[in-house]
Amino acid sequence: MKTAIYTKYGSPEIIKIIDVEKPSPKSNEVLVKIKASSATRADTMMRQGSPTFGRLFLGLFKPKNTSLGTGFSGVIESIGDEVSKFKIADAVLGEKLFSNGCNAEYICIAEDMIITHKPINISHQEAAPICDGFLTSYNFLKDIANIQQGQHVLVNGASGSLGSAAVQLAKVMGAKVTGVCSTKNMELVKSLGADFVIDYKKNHFSKNTNMYDVIYDSVGKTNYSMSKKALKPNGVFMTPVLSLNVLWYSISNSKRVKFGATGLKKPEDLKPLFLELVTFFKQKKLKTVIDKSYDLSEIIEAHHYLETDRKVGNIVIINQ
Ligand SMILES: NC(=O)c1ccc[n+]([C@@H]2O[C@H](COP(=O)([O-])OP(=O)(O)OC[C@H]3O[C@@H](n4cnc5c(N)ncnc54)[C@H](OP(=O)(O)O)[C@@H]3O)[C@@H](O)[C@H]2O)c1
Repeated sequence: MKTAIYTKYGSPEIIKIIDVEKPSPKSNEVLVKIKASSATRADTMMRQGSPTFGRLFLGLFKPKNTSLGTGFSGVIESIGDEVSKFKIADAVLGEKLFSNGCNAEYICIAEDMIITHKPINISHQEAAPICDGFLTSYNFLKDIANIQQGQHVLVNGASGSLGSAAVQLAKVMGAKVTGVCSTKNMELVKSLGADFVIDYKKNHFSKNTNMYDVIYDSVGKTNYSMSKKALKPNGVFMTPVLSLNVLWYSISNSKRVKFGATGLKKPEDLKPLFLELVTFFKQKKLKTVIDKSYDLSEIIEAHHYLETDRKVGNIVIINQ
């Protein structure tokens, strides 16, 4: 089967599609024939080994994990002897967390990990990216910030994968939402349910003093110092983008500044969030924003596009 790998840190050109033996499921695993997988900003950062201090975790001189792609959607082709929750031909979606390997034709995954049945009202392409933007942002909004009905949440980078998910999720949770994006994405962000939209090319949200309970900088383009005045007295600034500034404030002012790495949570803590999200999709409360889709053979091109910083929502890799 074909799979995408990278054996050193660097530009998209280091990615190779290679042929490897098709995996066989262990007794507690299912073998999934992948129809669509996600290609994400987090994948590009792991491939670059960036930020450099992240290599303490990713591998000091070269990546410890050489496979690419965390989110998948596909169809079960075979199952291990002890599998009880799934059967052959079930359509499923899920994620492999930091073990990656979803930009491939097949993966094996244990039935107790992050996998569930795909709702029939969404396509494989819409399902594959759910574990990037939606799962990450739901972890921030629910488990980290514990958003309450009526609170005012500002989402910076509201047109990205995490941001487009956060706007919708904060609305589902009953919050008032302000989305920050550029002029060309304002209509999209409004259509996702934002009550207010700020065009960052014309205005800076920090002019709104004492306004927000939570500022979620989904793209790491601002910081706590710039956001402080816009927060209410007990307001929280949070971001999924790690920098030395975020690291410093999240330690020195941990009540007000929060960082989290969703993929590092225990699967048993992530799974309830994942299952709730899938229920929201079944109830048609959420929709995946897709910018472009690429064939697995075009993954280098997909990574170049991911690095432009201009993508709108998600990028999907399709297996023909
Ligand atoms: N900690 C975790 O658990 C975790 C998990 C997943 C991802 N991440 C990280 O989260 C970050 C966001 O990922 P993503 O996929 O959501 O990003 P993304 O989709 O690549 O972000 C691109 C979007 O950001 C907007 N943007 C660019 N500059 C902006 C600015 N100055 N202000 C506001 N919006 C701006 C762009 O819109 P315009 O073209 O209109 O500017 C574009 O729509 C990445 O750094 C990723 O590594 C962290």
